[in-house]
Amino acid sequence: MFQHDLLKGKVVLITGGGTGLGKAMATRFGELGAEIAIIGRRLEVLEETAHGLQQQGVNVVFRSCDVRDPEQIAASMQQIWDAYGHLDVLVNNAAGNFISPTERLSPRAVDAVINIVLHGSMYCTLEAGKRWIAAGTGGTVLNIVASYAWTGSAYVVPSAVAKAGVLAMTRSLAVEWAKYRIRQVAIAPGPFPTEGAWSRLAPTPEIADAMADRVPMGRTGKPEELANMAAYLISDYASFINGEVVTVDGGEWLYGAGEFNGLTRLSTDDWDRISALIPRGKK
Ligand code: HXC
Ligand code: NAP
Repeated sequence: MFQHDLLKGKVVLITGGGTGLGKAMATRFGELGAEIAIIGRRLEVLEETAHGLQQQGVNVVFRSCDVRDPEQIAASMQQIWDAYGHLDVLVNNAAGNFISPTERLSPRAVDAVINIVLHGSMYCTLEAGKRWIAAGTGGTVLNIVASYAWTGSAYVVPSAVAKAGVLAMTRSLAVEWAKYRIRQVAIAPGPFPTEGAWSRLAPTPEIADAMADRVPMGRTGKPEELANMAAYLISDYASFINGEVVTVDGGEWLYGAGEFNGLTRLSTDDWDRISALIPRGKK
């Protein structure tokens, strides 16, 4: 359904673009004609991803950057403007997370996650936004959140707090910056078994299996399923979508919400037995 030049002429910065879902988005956007910039803390990881993209004929700039540090973000943005002359899309994808009983967290552990996810996303958005407003060009921000931004979740409380903040930023700036032609969109992915996420969130087979079991479609996501939605949302075809979050989770969060959804586990025989127990009509 995508034209091969869908993103031609667009420069896209993906934070955390060296690995996992960020890398999948960089790859898909590059296939669709975008010029790419990726940042993250580990230079060797970025280098390897950039090299792979370049071999596919994609223009890429990369730089080691900790999104918790506004000065490093400003230097990264300058490198992008020097290389490409402009930026069209910022994807706030970099994240830190791990499962833990909340009472075991130190203040530094709380800060580690919230500073990457909430402060990092806001610093990057501010830096790009100021430049877009000064240049009068407009732009698009795509924030990668999680469905627990609105449901909350046990055992990942700093991440849930931070993603809720990023979703609030998405909706707030959708209104405030629309007059500058800056659009805000978000995606809430369900479970995608990337190395970065699974090593910290599903470190045992039991936990990993439980992640897939919660999805009514009976499987986890494929990175390209997220990347395709992202490509659409940053494209000109989505030009009137502003402040919206799209969930790409196979129905996972709704499964957790509906009181009777656990009954999907019952067999036909179970239903025959149970149905016979339920009063019908007035008797
Ligand atoms: C308890 C921990 C911990 C753990 C670190 N800390 N890991 N506490 N359990 N597993 C504590 C440390 O002891 C320290 O506190 C503080 O956190 C900072 O630790 P550092 O190692 O110095 O932090 P840093 O090097 O900045 O690393 C940040 C990180 C790390 C978040 C802790 O995991 C990271 O780099 N993650 C990046 C990639 C990532 O997380 N990807 C997953 C994204 S998936 P003290 O007090 O001891 O000094 C996602 C969506 C999930 O977000 C949704 C799934 C469905
Ligand atoms: P990932 O591979 O671990 O991606 C996280 C990326 O962020 C890494 O490339 C990491 O690179 C970078 N990063 C972390 N801290 C950073 C910092 N301080 N500065 C700059 N970059 C930093 O995990 P993923 O699964 O692809 O996650 C991508 C996004 O999807 C995240 O926003 C995550 O919350 C979201 N998400 C994922 C899932 C899932 O099931 N996978 C579900 C819901 C939401 P460095 O370590 O080199 O810095």
